[in-house]
Amino acid sequence: MAKIKIQINSSTYQPDVDPEMPLLWVIRDFVGLTGTKYGCGIGQCGACTVHLDGHAVRSCTIPVSAVRNQKITTIEGLSTDGNHPLQVAWKERDVPQCGYCQAGQIMNAAALLMQNPQPSDADITIGMSGNLCRCGTYQRIHQAIKQASL
Ligand code: FES
Repeated sequence: MAKIKIQINSSTYQPDVDPEMPLLWVIRDFVGLTGTKYGCGIGQCGACTVHLDGHAVRSCTIPVSAVRNQKITTIEGLSTDGNHPLQVAWKERDVPQCGYCQAGQIMNAAALLMQNPQPSDADITIGMSGNLCRCGTYQRIHQAIKQASL
């Protein structure tokens, strides 16, 4: 066990954990931010997507010791009022079905728009291709990203 200093959203934490513990467990079980979801646990589905210094990463595959002193943003920290342009578009287009994958979808989309504020349809398709949705809401996700980029 070791005390590892991490910054999540606008707060600093120092959980006493196994340095190899996946960041996802620290976010959910030690910090108590449960918006980030566990899907596959092997980096394949995108449900656990968070931002690491502004880039989308899969928190289930990253040991917490690897993110020491880096800025982590979860869905809870994407905006202060829940009105990030993607969150607005998500609500207006009624994107979620079961909702389980949606935090990861939004975080991946947010990173995509930070890197490419006006993505083409192909950019969105390629950029979002690694985030799986068992309900098949892909078309509404695509439309919401397009709306948020306009
Ligand atoms: Fe991390 Fe599926 S839970 S990619």
